Amino acid sequence: MPGSVARHVSRLSILTAAIPFSILLVTGTTVWKPGYTPVAATGQAAEVRSQHGMVVSATEHASRVGTEVLKAGGNAVDAAIATGFALAVTHPAAGNIGGGGFMVIRFPDGRVTAFDYREKAPLAATPRMFLDENGEYSSRIHHNSHKAVGVPGTVAGFALAHQTYGTLGWHRLVEPSVALARDGFALMPGLTRSLQYAIARMEPYPASVAAFSKNGEPYAEGEIWKQPDLARTLEKIMLEGRDGFYKGETARLIAEEMRRGGGLITEEDLAIYRAYEREPIKGTYRGYDVISMPPPSSGGTILVEMLNILEGYDLRAMGHNTSASIHHITEAMRRAYLDRARFLADPSYADVPVERLTSKEYAAELRQSIDQNRASVSDPVDIELPHESPQTTHYSVVDADGMAVSVTYTLEAGYGSKIVVPGAGFLLNNEMGDFNPLRGLTDTLGHIGSEPNLARPGQRMLSSMTPTILAKDGQLVAVVGSPGGRTIINSVLQVILNVIDFEMPIQEAVNAKRLHHAWLPNTVRVEEDGISESTKQGLEAMGHRMIVRGRQGLTHCIMIDSVTGERIGAADPRDADGRAVGY
Ligand code: DON
Repeated sequence: MPGSVARHVSRLSILTAAIPFSILLVTGTTVWKPGYTPVAATGQAAEVRSQHGMVVSATEHASRVGTEVLKAGGNAVDAAIATGFALAVTHPAAGNIGGGGFMVIRFPDGRVTAFDYREKAPLAATPRMFLDENGEYSSRIHHNSHKAVGVPGTVAGFALAHQTYGTLGWHRLVEPSVALARDGFALMPGLTRSLQYAIARMEPYPASVAAFSKNGEPYAEGEIWKQPDLARTLEKIMLEGRDGFYKGETARLIAEEMRRGGGLITEEDLAIYRAYEREPIKGTYRGYDVISMPPPSSGGTILVEMLNILEGYDLRAMGHNTSASIHHITEAMRRAYLDRARFLADPSYADVPVERLTSKEYAAELRQSIDQNRASVSDPVDIELPHESPQTTHYSVVDADGMAVSVTYTLEAGYGSKIVVPGAGFLLNNEMGDFNPLRGLTDTLGHIGSEPNLARPGQRMLSSMTPTILAKDGQLVAVVGSPGGRTIINSVLQVILNVIDFEMPIQEAVNAKRLHHAWLPNTVRVEEDGISESTKQGLEAMGHRMIVRGRQGLTHCIMIDSVTGERIGAADPRDADGRAVGY
């Protein structure tokens, strides 16, 4: 079958136990909803330039906290840690101390490194832990219960990054966030709307409703919002470092809440949690160096695999968001996301063939299976993935010396498990939902039932987070990343293509409409008004199934002006409160 990925499957059979992969010619039936209204994009849409340092994050408070650390002589790692704590106060949907994430660093001399502070499964986890009392898989247990909570990693990750590369005192990095939580801050428009949405879903958890509302009533925009319990927890972290979270009262409060709600995390799970420094994924694309996150994120591996495939095509000649460029980009996504489903997992628990997946030779093989004019096949699918809201958060930091830090961290869903630890004031993640649901459960909804990413004691769940740095000829070029679940890798890919192939200024590259294909479901999802009617028809004629979606990703990026050396901060206007702050 021309354009089928079947050949690609057989080439890789040496590497894997096969996932069922049936062949169905996509009909191109339209699921096109022109009337669909996306979430308003009301955030900062213009670039911000600075001479020295720059922080771009989901809130102005957090970007300012980071920039002040830079001004005080801190480096980009210091600023990233301070920004991360400030987001835990000012962007509670995703900023966190009860979740986890990844940090990619490039030093001014070109060295690179990464930190993994992904959540992990508690010791009592098993691959069958998401089954209900009847032995049926339960989406509720998997995504929306105390069992959905993974052992948090953020505080350990920040502490390790600080101990390894920080320059300012730890106290200086946490203190601004203690003050923000204790003294409060005026609620921004985006956060006000977000809290209204959140408290309606927190009913089962009185401590959560208490933390995010006035006795159940939503806050209004501009009101001062204080978080005294969170302030106390942050103060412990400020004074005791990681032990202020993983031991003593905070650990006891987490374990008590777990026991109360049927969760699995114990004080022992918390005490033994470790963050790791890891070797980043290093790829190249048209002469640029691509530095990104290795497993347990799939992000860097899959990003480089897609870029390697696309390097063989003249996307610029095809044009931005034309049927030809979207077709080729979609076919690269289809192949890489299939590999994601088959191979990617915590490297301590699975043999992930990273070298092969990120090699130019493998990409050349995959290109041979791409028909220039015809969509390939995926498993039979007409159904969209459950909506993945962009409730992770990415931020970018560059300091005056040119040290760059790219951070994406998350609670998984917006406000994570929605469970605030009573007395401690912070939200717990629902990251266990990133484990595969059950061995063998691969279906048209996008459930993946492959072996490597099943829940096992201590295993880290597979992520799509893709904090990435670009460099060229030894010089820093850009810091990029995004939230958005499985769409993350594709959003980052498209910002990179926009900059390199389509030569867009960074703000334009961030603002441009995006698309998503993830092997399953077999649909190309395009942001509203992202492509013309004739482009859509062209893609349908090739056999692609097109869907309009709301917004995709919140890519808060920084680019270096290659002539002046200025830092150009580009907050994503899809994020109402996102801001670039430089000095
Ligand atoms: O680690 C991951 O890839 C996800 N837990 C990120 C979640 C996210 O971006 C929010 N949207 N679904």
